[in-house]
Amino acid sequence: MVIRRLRRRKRYKRNVQISMTNPPSLPVYDRFQSYDWNYEHAPDPVEIEVPEMPGKWDICGLSVDSPLGVPAGPLLNGNWCLYYASLGFDVVTYKTVRSRARACYPLPNLQPVACAQLTGDETEVSAATDMTGSWAVSYGMPSREPSIWRADVEATRKQLGAGKLLSVSVVATVQDGWTIEDLAVDYAKCAKWAVDSGADIVETNFSCPNVSTCDGQLFQQPTDAQLVAQCVRSAIGEVPYVAKIGHVPTSEAAGELLQAIGSSIDALAMTNSVATQVRDGDSLVFDGQRRGICGAAIRDASIQQTRLFAKLIRERQLNIQVIGVGGIQNASDVIAYLTAGAKACHVATAAMVDPYVAVRIKRELARHSGNSG
Ligand SMILES: Cc1cc2nc3c(=O)[nH]c(=O)nc-3n(C[C@H](O)[C@H](O)[C@H](O)COP(=O)(O)O)c2cc1C
Repeated sequence: MVIRRLRRRKRYKRNVQISMTNPPSLPVYDRFQSYDWNYEHAPDPVEIEVPEMPGKWDICGLSVDSPLGVPAGPLLNGNWCLYYASLGFDVVTYKTVRSRARACYPLPNLQPVACAQLTGDETEVSAATDMTGSWAVSYGMPSREPSIWRADVEATRKQLGAGKLLSVSVVATVQDGWTIEDLAVDYAKCAKWAVDSGADIVETNFSCPNVSTCDGQLFQQPTDAQLVAQCVRSAIGEVPYVAKIGHVPTSEAAGELLQAIGSSIDALAMTNSVATQVRDGDSLVFDGQRRGICGAAIRDASIQQTRLFAKLIRERQLNIQVIGVGGIQNASDVIAYLTAGAKACHVATAAMVDPYVAVRIKRELARHSGNSG
């Protein structure tokens, strides 16, 4: 079995070139196993030749080998970060962590869906048996104890190669009776811990429930988001700060959010997902609760949102980069995001399905730039 060979015999030597027409299979996240099982079964890094990405790249002023990254989610711990870094991703984001341990939701954590491009107006989508590009994501942002993830972040940063950046995503954990100020302090505490552990970049997940409007999310509540962003900024000093947001349907809402948090952040990552219910025959999956749809089905909406935010940022002369996330599968999608104004492109679903996706994208872009030059 290829996985065993990789581990036991170190089959690949440094810079081994792999044929992309029929590459050896590599391990991926197993959606039929629990989050904890996948946490414990991170694959070892591989040694394969990854083409250089043409151009000079930076994220929030930090130089990096390419704009390709993995957003918060697929990389459950440091070993997953190192595996995907070895596969050609240059910004690896440590899955969202908290100030206290939190268990994962039960399976299914990843439910394939069958749907066309989503607009955000859908009330439900259909569940599917096979994965064809999009799935509903249901984890509830589990986290290990801070002592565990902090030590892991520290060890991971030390092992990441030159030209690679480690971003750590954090979220607050609402307690009974908390005010928005308490929430802000909890966000800031996690952000500071991430920085103290060596994170190059800190990301706050603002697609999470808000305490002052229990059904809302922070990115939809500009005043509350502003307070949190200011508190995080004062905790982390000059360290690059990214806010991750969900689907913002109108230009007005986008403008209000920028007005509120624009002076505290260095970048905005979008889009987390498009939320909707999932129907399987006569019943609704996840007890009828909405879940974020990720993958191919959110590409068009996310590119459109990237274009909108990039335009507003330009008009307001803000010093904020947009990190494009959502449905990226190939070099054309990367070009579409960069053309829409993104400075970086992060791939979650496609990278979990095809671990070679960064190598394929870099090869295609290198060929593209060779041809056009
Ligand atoms: C398995 C999985 C877990 C995720 N967990 C998180 C998370 O913990 N925090 C977060 O901000 N986003 C999370 N996301 C959302 C991704 O960061 C990303 O925004 C989304 O998947 C869209 O990108 P994609 O279309 O390339 O999958 C998760 C996505 C997936 C697929």
